[in-house]
Amino acid sequence: MMMRFGQLLAEMMGMNPRVLGDKELARAVRNRMSVCNLEDEEQYLEKLRSSPQEMEAFVEAVVIPETSFFRDKISFTFLGRYVRDEWIPARRAKPLRILSSPCSSGEEPYSIAMTLLEAGLKPGDYEIDALDISRTSLRKAERAAYTQYSFRGVPASLRNGFFESVGNEYVLKDQARQGVCFIHGNLLDGHILANKLPYDVVFCRNLLIYLGTEARAHVTSVIERLVARNGLLFVGHAETSCFPRERFVPLNPRGAFYFRKVEPGPAAIGAGAAAGIPSRVSFPPPVRIAPKKPGTPQRTEQPPREVPKPRDSIAAARQLADQGRLPEAAAMCERLLCEDGANADAYCLLGIVLHGMESFQRAEECLNRAIYLDEQCYDAIVHLSLIREHRGDSAGAEVLRHRAARLQGQTRTL
Ligand SMILES: C[S@@+](CC[C@H](N)C(=O)[O-])C[C@H]1O[C@@H](n2cnc3c(N)ncnc32)[C@H](O)[C@@H]1O
Repeated sequence: MMMRFGQLLAEMMGMNPRVLGDKELARAVRNRMSVCNLEDEEQYLEKLRSSPQEMEAFVEAVVIPETSFFRDKISFTFLGRYVRDEWIPARRAKPLRILSSPCSSGEEPYSIAMTLLEAGLKPGDYEIDALDISRTSLRKAERAAYTQYSFRGVPASLRNGFFESVGNEYVLKDQARQGVCFIHGNLLDGHILANKLPYDVVFCRNLLIYLGTEARAHVTSVIERLVARNGLLFVGHAETSCFPRERFVPLNPRGAFYFRKVEPGPAAIGAGAAAGIPSRVSFPPPVRIAPKKPGTPQRTEQPPREVPKPRDSIAAARQLADQGRLPEAAAMCERLLCEDGANADAYCLLGIVLHGMESFQRAEECLNRAIYLDEQCYDAIVHLSLIREHRGDSAGAEVLRHRAARLQGQTRTL
């Protein structure tokens, strides 16, 4: 029976029920049934099918609104640099148009606005559309009042410049609210924002990881339509393999979460290779030629045999990590997550690799996700405890160490 609720969610919003998990799905169904005063699951399924309002309420019960200001700070650093180095010098007559979708409760589009203001634009120089399926999140976004939790990792100086402290909340000042327009919508809808011109910059972060394969393909094609030619696309760090490299060229050399949309062609492929980014387009691997000893008879050169690329798998990614090839291991984990957003092992390994690359915030997010998907993921718990220790949260680290020890079924301190 639960499977049918899962299928309905997948059809309606693209959510992969495996990512949500059986317990969460059952909890949401139970809660909504109790609100509707229904005891029979079949009846509730019928109600969901016949009442758009109830469908919306059910969606609200399962959405994952996790977000924060300047989440994955590096995206905003790149955006600021783009505006300063490219957009402003080009002196375009039109405003810079940006889409943030999904925008959740507004932290992402407002972080974009603050970045643009810091880079030298004024309200009126830009337009930010921010779209989400959750009306509850959008209401919170429009209110623009946040608790300290939304600012994790953000320096107080940045927060204080743009927000006013009111009670235990921080209220965004008008300057950064201007130019941000919130829109209710479903990215699974092929006609979404069809009345809008394509955007110069699109942020589509941390949605694709929650979607099933079909929905992901659908949403990526919608997003592709919404990015203008030569426009920029930002994705989440576990979503970098979701867009075709022939049309989206990675711009950042270390982790490819920032792309420029190009027309397909050899130039585009070359640009990706120049940036040193692993790509879906397979380049022949470099052939190492042993130095010839003087006097060695000349042999007819055979064309170099193509060494097959290892197939993506957790084992192959682990091998890359063991060899110290961390960016390649991370890219492989990301591709695996693009195929299956509920792969706890891939999240765990990605977290460990990112930990090794000293990308602590991203590592923590991945490890948390691994534990969410598999609460017995021992390696994720241990690595998360190390990260907590590293950032001075000894109590948090201790709790995790005990949890890991319990899992091992032994009392010794790890
Ligand atoms: C994890 S948040 C990501 C927010 C933000 N982009 C970030 O990275 O911090 C995911 C958001 O996706 C929204 N969402 C889920 N399915 C959607 C859909 N089919 N169309 C539009 N938004 C959707 C949820 O309501 C939720 O706010």
